[in-house]
Amino acid sequence: MTVAIRQLHPVFVGEVSGVDVTAPLTAEEVAAIEAGMDRYAVLVFRDQQLTDEQQMAFSRHFGPLEDARGGNITKPEDKRLRVGMNDVSNLGRDGRPLARDSRQRLFNLGNMLWHSDSSFRRIPARYSLLSARVVNPVGGNTEFADMRAAYDALDPATKAQIEALVCEHSLMYSRGSLGMLDYSDEERAMFRPVRQSLVRRHPVTGRPSLYLSSHAGAIVGMPMPEARILLRDLTEHATQPRFVYVHRWRQWDLVMWDNRQVMHRVRRYDESQPRDMRRTTVAGDAPTAAQVEVA
Ligand SMILES: [Fe+2]
Repeated sequence: MTVAIRQLHPVFVGEVSGVDVTAPLTAEEVAAIEAGMDRYAVLVFRDQQLTDEQQMAFSRHFGPLEDARGGNITKPEDKRLRVGMNDVSNLGRDGRPLARDSRQRLFNLGNMLWHSDSSFRRIPARYSLLSARVVNPVGGNTEFADMRAAYDALDPATKAQIEALVCEHSLMYSRGSLGMLDYSDEERAMFRPVRQSLVRRHPVTGRPSLYLSSHAGAIVGMPMPEARILLRDLTEHATQPRFVYVHRWRQWDLVMWDNRQVMHRVRRYDESQPRDMRRTTVAGDAPTAAQVEVA
């Protein structure tokens, strides 16, 4: 089969045909998909009925999987899925929707804020791959924003102003913006802010992009309110409809995106009904900014 990609949005996103993600890929297929990711930043594969093992095997064609530790408040004994799978469903171990006051559920609501996966890690994620196992009957679209097109559309003065800025990212900033402010000492240590460049360049194409995320809550050397206003302005700019693709899920869609080039968010859905979405994450290979040494 030959890999073919049809562009779905004026500036990014491709729909892939000619690939069976449940079977091992040839080197040519891997290269074609990577080239598609470099160009389109989001790829949609329809009708891919896969198991967790097959999803992990497909993802590993593009690099080692990220270690998920430190990315959530869910305790290991409460996890529904095996190591290597990120659970972005609304389900508990019993397979039923989490209770309204579940802390795990409230924490996961942060996925409804614009973000780039793992921007709170020192080495942030490369690709994320999300498989739709059970689609919710109401809402639950995932939206993607092209941060390269958003960067290109900035005026020259803003580009110069932000070129060398470094942000601090933490899960406590994104969740804090939703009013979740109580964390144990252990969680505070786990969610300690990391530094990320505000402008990053793609390692293959060299294209600059805005590296924004709701996890970004401070800018090094800038007073906090000034930093938050700048980040909010840039985020509003970057998420205008002309830069945004709305993905309406069908069961067995697999959507793969490059966290270095896009932001995404999920929209509200009927939480009394299941939404079983399973993510694998391909690890990044380098930090975007120098970190401060913590004693
Ligand atoms: Fe995400």
